[in-house]
Amino acid sequence: MAEAQAISSTATPGVSRREFLTYVWAASMALFMLEIGAVSVLFALPRFKVGEFGGIFPFGRAGEVLPKVGEDPKEFPEAKIWLVNTEKGILAIYKVCTHLGCLYKWVPSNFRFECPCHGSKFQLDGTYIEGPAPRDLDRFVIYLKDSTGRVVAQTDSQGNPLPVSDPNLLIEVDTGNKIEGKPAQKPRA
Ligand code: FES
Repeated sequence: MAEAQAISSTATPGVSRREFLTYVWAASMALFMLEIGAVSVLFALPRFKVGEFGGIFPFGRAGEVLPKVGEDPKEFPEAKIWLVNTEKGILAIYKVCTHLGCLYKWVPSNFRFECPCHGSKFQLDGTYIEGPAPRDLDRFVIYLKDSTGRVVAQTDSQGNPLPVSDPNLLIEVDTGNKIEGKPAQKPRA
């Protein structure tokens, strides 16, 4: 009885207790929906800026930025990648060794990547050659766009080399979209 009196004493004069509770419930629901909306917008926003590792790197026209087929790879330190051009297509290879995370180097005289930490070695396309690394080098997804910004091709889910049909296509690398290298093909002991 005392509780009912307390609630009714907080209600605005002229508004019934039922109406008052309905208003309180509606206000709570509106606040809740507002919070859900704000969280959704925050999640929809890109987490990384363009040109920031973890985000998209636009590199310009394929004909200008790519090494020639079979040539030494091109290093892009800010994106932490090597751009590689093979007969099958192009690759954006992550600069971090798949063993324990050292920064491996390209050794032109041996025409392969070599890790100074524990000696893992990889071919131009990132395929494991020898050493303790458990898998091939990791790759990032590449987008090829036309001059209107339309994506005309992109790296497949296996991370296979992406053929470039036109040197005028624009290259973008998504450093937030990494594809792990395949398990190393090690000789049987
Ligand atoms: S970190 Fe590269 S071989 Fe160990």
